[in-house]
Amino acid sequence: MDKIRIVGGTPLKGVIPIGGAKNAALTLMPACLLTGETLSLSNLPHLVDITTMANLLAQHGVGMVLNGQAPNGGHSGRVLELTAAEITNTTAPYDLVRKMRASVLVLGPLLARCGQARVSLPGGCAIGTRPVDLHLKALEQMGARIDVDGGYIVADVPGGRLKGATVVFPQVTVGGTENILMAATLAEGETVITNAAREPEVSDLAYCLQAMGAKIEGIGTPTLRVTGVERLHGCDYAVLPDRIETGTYMVAAAITRGDIELIGARRDLMQSVEKVMAEAGVEFEDTERGFRVRADRKPIRGVDIMTEPYPGFPTDMQAQLMALMATAEGASMITETIFENRFMHVPELSRMGARINVHGSSAIVRGVPRLSGAPVMATDLRASVSLVLAGLAAHGETLVNRVYHLDRGYERVEEKLAACGAVIERVKSNDPAE
Ligand code: EPZ
Repeated sequence: MDKIRIVGGTPLKGVIPIGGAKNAALTLMPACLLTGETLSLSNLPHLVDITTMANLLAQHGVGMVLNGQAPNGGHSGRVLELTAAEITNTTAPYDLVRKMRASVLVLGPLLARCGQARVSLPGGCAIGTRPVDLHLKALEQMGARIDVDGGYIVADVPGGRLKGATVVFPQVTVGGTENILMAATLAEGETVITNAAREPEVSDLAYCLQAMGAKIEGIGTPTLRVTGVERLHGCDYAVLPDRIETGTYMVAAAITRGDIELIGARRDLMQSVEKVMAEAGVEFEDTERGFRVRADRKPIRGVDIMTEPYPGFPTDMQAQLMALMATAEGASMITETIFENRFMHVPELSRMGARINVHGSSAIVRGVPRLSGAPVMATDLRASVSLVLAGLAAHGETLVNRVYHLDRGYERVEEKLAACGAVIERVKSNDPAE
């Protein structure tokens, strides 16, 4: 597996273009299953997870045409046309689902369009057990019959069409809200989703579904009302910019005490992250093309952080902020409330000299004047990128192993950082044991 080699210590200066949001694209793509017409998605990021979703949709019978377009001077911003004229197979096999949990997002659309689906249960992953019980319970409320057999969710809809229902999620679930939102667009009657996730990626899906002819009210609020229609049609839709990629490069600027302009980024989606970072001493300023992040004028201080559903501080930014806090003046308490096992970066950051103690779901981070480079690795995407960020600030050489995780969610990460002065390169390796 490839590695990333970093020699830290350079304050980053320059511009970084932000790509389309991975987690929006991963729910917009399966929405194509709801219509026989073409859904054309632009600003699609070029990531391993997007390819995995494309492979899954292809084996359901979706025809795809990919057109490269490079608006930001990179190879991001691709356009993918997806046409599910006929769904030839309603099984999502274990081999694809185990690679990526977002595969479960085909369940709602397949049930709504075909009245049946067989989707492998995703199982646990590095950050927690992550069940899909809330998706299944809500679909049952909408009239689906669901069994679990041989590791598969086996579902069908007696009578062929799902029925509107009042779904009350006992806890906020992004994927659950997306699955039910898609299913409800073609159901008979009204579906009300209470305690719906308000993440911008959920709203992006809702706006796309509206453009496809769905009737949805309450977008961006905790209550979504969907009146089912007989059919949806195709549309052209641009994926929103990735707020987690944006936040990650905000931290890259801060941790190197640098100055970076993020092009195409949406500052309005970054409020909770900006608030924490501003409190720590980072400065922000709107620009014509996005916004600027500066940390070259004030010291960075420790601040407390607690992850929460949107509009709270995102769990997907927790590891990156922990890396920043490891270099801050003073202490910081970081509490993770979304996933039970999302501190895998702690032992690796500690190997780089960070002083972190974990007590249950909280970590106390005591900043040190300088991290030191080391060989490190992580088992999920955001943990991996937090090690890259730490490496940018550390004294000496850091070798981040298992770059596979980074490629799932960050497009050309080493090129984007190198363009701002980082000493960073990808080291090819053919050794499968690594
Ligand atoms: C989405 O995962 C994102 N993935 C995650 O991004 C993100 O961390 C997460 O939302 C929270 O913001 C995609 O959008 C593809 P959830 P999802 O359902 O939908 C529990 C990244 O790095 N739960 O909101 O799977 C669950 O175990 C990632 O890009 C149930 O108990 O998250 C978790 O503790 C990783 N039963 C909590 O709810 C259910 O049926 C929130 O999960 C569903 C969820």
